[in-house]
Amino acid sequence: MSKTSEKPSIFVTRRWPNAAEEALKEYFVPTFNENDLPLTETQIAEGFASHDALAPTVSDQITADIIAAGAAGSGKLIANFGVGVNHIDLAAAASAGLAVSNTPGVLTDATADLTLTLMLMVSRRAGEGERELRAGKWHGWRPTHLMGHSLSGKTLGIIGMGRIGKAVAYRAALGFGMKIIFFNRSKVTDITDYDAKQIDNLDVLCTQSDFVSLHCAASADTFHILDDERLKQLQTHAYVINTARGDVIDEAALVRALHSGSIGGAGLDVFQGEPNIHPDFLMAPNTVLLPHLGSATVETRTAMGLKVVANARAFFAGERLIDPVG
Ligand code: DGY
Repeated sequence: MSKTSEKPSIFVTRRWPNAAEEALKEYFVPTFNENDLPLTETQIAEGFASHDALAPTVSDQITADIIAAGAAGSGKLIANFGVGVNHIDLAAAASAGLAVSNTPGVLTDATADLTLTLMLMVSRRAGEGERELRAGKWHGWRPTHLMGHSLSGKTLGIIGMGRIGKAVAYRAALGFGMKIIFFNRSKVTDITDYDAKQIDNLDVLCTQSDFVSLHCAASADTFHILDDERLKQLQTHAYVINTARGDVIDEAALVRALHSGSIGGAGLDVFQGEPNIHPDFLMAPNTVLLPHLGSATVETRTAMGLKVVANARAFFAGERLIDPVG
């Protein structure tokens, strides 16, 4: 703990919603990144080394060097603002003896809602329509104008049936009358509200789905889980939806599929190397692109901040982390 205060100090890499920052101030001495621009590796390392805890977000790469600097200084805890932790070198944190926490649960509904947003936008051609209208190219209503496809009766194939996958399935099945099939490494036995069929062969899921939506965590196991071969198995009208992480899709292969018309379209909220986007996505037909907005509601981002506070409080009170990682 910092010697200048009773409260532990925490280095916060980006601004948070007001209520969450206020809660943090109540229990910690925070240093905020006042202008909210991305920090360099050196800035984060120096910040971590001089504070008891680091609160990064999913857009900061928390490298072994940052972890080593923190561990050599005052750093004891990495309390991540976000559920995904693929940006943190967890092996380095474990070997440096640093604790890591994240914020699961509170962003499930927001991310599921955004998944349905993308499914509707791409299947109803909402992005195309808005671009046409804003460009002054709309020449009026006609029966064949921008016809899309309905969700009702279609098959949604979910890859990764964790919290978010289930919340998407719930909405799609009960709200839109979709048929649900899913792929998940372990057996899922707790779905009772709607029909959902677990399929052990991902290739089969790809051939049977009208929509494929990814909800698996990014890891070595799921890297490019939707690769060129699997994209080739999709039906020509099928849509790919990704609100998980860019790494789970072979983006070069997806770009080829979109430009060649071998699939129906894509709705993407996450990208490899964010915020840089593969340039060929920008001109790809029937593709909706969002800037990683899955959890972006005031309610959810506030709840995420409060979860960071709760985890850090537990840690510095000598209790178990609420949401330990690793
Ligand atoms: C997360 O927390 O991992 C999300 O991607 C942020 O929206």
